[in-house]
Amino acid sequence: MKNGSLWLDTNGCHINAHAGSFLRHNGVWYWYGEHKIAGWEGRLAFVGVHVYSSADFLSWKDEGIALKVNDDPASPICRGCRIERPKVIYCASTGKFVMYFHSTDDKHTIAKCGVAVADSPLGPFEFLYAERPDKECWPLDVTDADKDEESIRRTIERNYIINREHEEAFTVNLLGRDFSGGQMSRDQTLFVDDDDKAYHIYASEQNSTLHISLLSEDYLYHSGIFNRAFHRRWMEAPVIFKRNGIYYLFMSGCTGWYPNAARGAWAENIMGPWHEFGNPCSGYCAENDSNAETTFNCQGACAVNIDGEIYIMLDRWNMENFIDSRYCLLKVKFMDNGCFELPWQESAFDI
Ligand code: DGJ
Repeated sequence: MKNGSLWLDTNGCHINAHAGSFLRHNGVWYWYGEHKIAGWEGRLAFVGVHVYSSADFLSWKDEGIALKVNDDPASPICRGCRIERPKVIYCASTGKFVMYFHSTDDKHTIAKCGVAVADSPLGPFEFLYAERPDKECWPLDVTDADKDEESIRRTIERNYIINREHEEAFTVNLLGRDFSGGQMSRDQTLFVDDDDKAYHIYASEQNSTLHISLLSEDYLYHSGIFNRAFHRRWMEAPVIFKRNGIYYLFMSGCTGWYPNAARGAWAENIMGPWHEFGNPCSGYCAENDSNAETTFNCQGACAVNIDGEIYIMLDRWNMENFIDSRYCLLKVKFMDNGCFELPWQESAFDI
């Protein structure tokens, strides 16, 4: 598993599970991710969410498609849609496996969260719904300005649709605008805490602000309890992990498929306040002449705890040929000052 090289499954095929997540269940590892096809077309979902299994995290068996696209044009998972950043968690109280993903279209206009459920980690996952979360709920940090009806009316009239860093976003009330229809949910991840409470963390308000939302006890819905972090910081690709009671986030900036400098943050409470501390990456990747400024030409996918060490999985996107996007797995180094670093390594494991 040399970072940036082809990672082959037990059939000798490049593993096809991008922007994914890992789950360990009954001693077996599962790796879920976007199945990409060749070319620029590969940004769209023509197959579904791929799953692989492994006993040792090194050798991966192709277990097929856990969530398949369908041919119903009315369905949010119709072939040619977008199913991005699929994450799977296990709900101990129901015994079900729950998948959340960014459900959208080619133009990225839908901004919904898709939910699917299965009895087995290998699926098949049954698609349940795609929605904008936290409808008619205000976040814990809501202010009178957020609820101001005049600014909500003006924002709806303005039809603001810019999904990247933009000055005008500071003058519109995106949270209030989406109160009645549900909040936008784009790049996303899931986190199950030590007390079995699960959270959905998603880029909202035209990608400008991160939302952290408590899920229902069965993990299938949003509870309506949520908070915001990194107001107008335009962060994508949230990767979350916890160590010694502290929560950490590793995120990208907002430049589509193009790499940018990552950002790190920590919090004592998952709902915040979150403290941003800059770019955790360090070092130089000679193989493609990249450094921390572009996250080694990668973007975070998820974090995984392997034998007590935290690793971050990254995608090195290939926009010309998405199926040939590569993976990098880097070990997190925790610092005495409470922050973490992500140094470049040729290979995550010394074997
Ligand atoms: C950035 C996201 O992190 C990716 O998953 C993908 O959605 C691209 N944007 C699409 O532009």
